[in-house]
Amino acid sequence: MAPSIRPRRSAAFFGEVSGIDIARSLDKTTVAAIQAGMDHYAVLLFPSQKITDEAQMTFAQNFGAIEDARGGNVTKPDDRRLSRGMNDVSNLGKDGKPLARDSRQRLFNLGNMLWHSDSSFRRVPAKYSLLSARVVNAKGGNTEFADMRAAYDALEEAMKREIEDLVCEHSLMYSRGSLGFLDFTEEERELFKPVRQRLVRTHPITGRKSLYLSSHAGAIIGMPMPEARMLLRDLTEHATQPQFVHVHSWAPYDLVMWDNRQTMHRVRRYDETQPRDMRRTTVGGDEPTVALATS
Ligand SMILES: [Fe+2]
Repeated sequence: MAPSIRPRRSAAFFGEVSGIDIARSLDKTTVAAIQAGMDHYAVLLFPSQKITDEAQMTFAQNFGAIEDARGGNVTKPDDRRLSRGMNDVSNLGKDGKPLARDSRQRLFNLGNMLWHSDSSFRRVPAKYSLLSARVVNAKGGNTEFADMRAAYDALEEAMKREIEDLVCEHSLMYSRGSLGFLDFTEEERELFKPVRQRLVRTHPITGRKSLYLSSHAGAIIGMPMPEARMLLRDLTEHATQPQFVHVHSWAPYDLVMWDNRQTMHRVRRYDETQPRDMRRTTVGGDEPTVALATS
């Protein structure tokens, strides 16, 4: 039986899925129903899914190949808490305890509190992210989502024309740099070199346009820097107004899956002395947003 998906009354782009156990192997009809739900809503909640990392990776692979997580943070391979294929979005070190206040890993990861689209700093940016809440923090830590299709639709026509063909530069050094995190090693500078992304994307199935914004965006090709930063700031302010945003308050074992091509998200502050164990799998995108010849 196909799962059923219902929109949240507070946000038409946030669907809640019931009648499914994602730890089990899914038939084609079920996968197609979820895929259609993702195309329509852009964010789906699967409540009460007590899964292992392996089951989470297997579920993610129904929607494409898992993205190579290398080059996405400053955590050294020896300090990794989770196995390959899993993105650690917790506040925990390898010893399972909350990271120290001055931990470089922690300071870098604070960038997740800025509005962003996962992996927009990669030449082929991510398609879906799937975030599983294993240990929920008692205080704060909501994740907010912004519908970038609705935000695009609400722009004035003149603005739509102005930005239609603009290309931005995205880099982890832009997002972290905006927080004053600037001490990158030579190796990291090479790894985090800016990539180009269109500012307006078109969804390959629905044909809907969306604003492709992210705190990783720090420049616009052919535009003076302050003008570009101001435009990006204005557009982000527009796109994250309450009418485009849904706030998700996590319950243990929620799994939320979102389309990075159609949404932005950010995590809010929480009590970092207490654990917050969130584990992400990321489904890679199909192609760059900018043709190779121009990038
Ligand atoms: Fe993220």
